[in-house]
Amino acid sequence: MNALEFRGVSFSYEENGPLAVDDLNFTVQEGDFVAVLGHNGSGKSTLARLSGGLLTADKGEIACFSNVLSDKNLYDIRKNLGIVFQNPDSQAVASLVEDDVAFGPENLGLPRDEIGRRIDFALRATGMEDFRGAMISRLSGGQKQRVAIAGVLAMKPKIMILDEATAMLDPKGRREIVEVVKELNKREGITVVMITHFMEEALQTDRALVMNRGSIAMQGSPEEIFERHEELLSFGLALPRIGVILKKLREGGMELHEVLGADALAKEIVSCVS
Ligand SMILES: Nc1ncnc2c1ncn2[C@@H]1O[C@H](COP(=O)(O)OP(=O)(O)OP(=O)(O)O)[C@@H](O)[C@H]1O
Ligand SMILES: [Mg+2]
Repeated sequence: MNALEFRGVSFSYEENGPLAVDDLNFTVQEGDFVAVLGHNGSGKSTLARLSGGLLTADKGEIACFSNVLSDKNLYDIRKNLGIVFQNPDSQAVASLVEDDVAFGPENLGLPRDEIGRRIDFALRATGMEDFRGAMISRLSGGQKQRVAIAGVLAMKPKIMILDEATAMLDPKGRREIVEVVKELNKREGITVVMITHFMEEALQTDRALVMNRGSIAMQGSPEEIFERHEELLSFGLALPRIGVILKKLREGGMELHEVLGADALAKEIVSCVS
């Protein structure tokens, strides 16, 4: 089943203005963990907002689990699709962690005990169970993002979109969020679309889409994508550091296979020189 499908979608922020997404076509399968890459202004956030019905396509069709987005089913779509945004400070709606996470389920009109169960589940899944009664304003950026993810999770969405959700965090905070998201994908079977400009994060996913000027320029496994160095560069993207090192070693004459992890690269080098 397709979790998310864009069919010939175009959108402009201004009437007759430049297209922010231009004949965008892609599908995300249920259970996938997909990275969306692309230079600044390539249309990634517009893709996220269109998916969640925060913007309406000028042309084409968007379907979430086979429901075509329209004004009539926005409520259902938002129940199934959760979005986590970039800024950890602008997403909280309450001052206490517990109240913030409860906000979504409360709006769904769920019974009290079900809301309690969902808060438990969401805080546990994001490793924030010890902060249930904490003030959000006292948390670190990474912890605030976990709360934002917990708030989305408490809605039990079938698909989550993270729009540069790690951009404002330090490397440790970034790694932790990606781990949390990966676990949710693998354990809970939640389909994940992770928009990021950190190439290393894309390496954690099953599939990567590269956006350029509002449409999909490349797609494939991260390994396949990162092998296409020149193309990536032409779309304004840099390689993961390991990819850069590998490229330099190959240029220097070492016969190495394409590898993405530090361990695999070390093994390659050892076998090459011994
Ligand atoms: N609110 C807005 N009003 C007008 N134009 C906008 C608005 N938001 C985005 N755009 C334009 O739409 C295009 C796509 O922007 P979008 O924010 O989707 O890109 P992005 O890939 O998310 O970029 P970034 O990496 O900087 O977050 C850009 O040309 C941008 O200038
Ligand atoms: Mg953006």
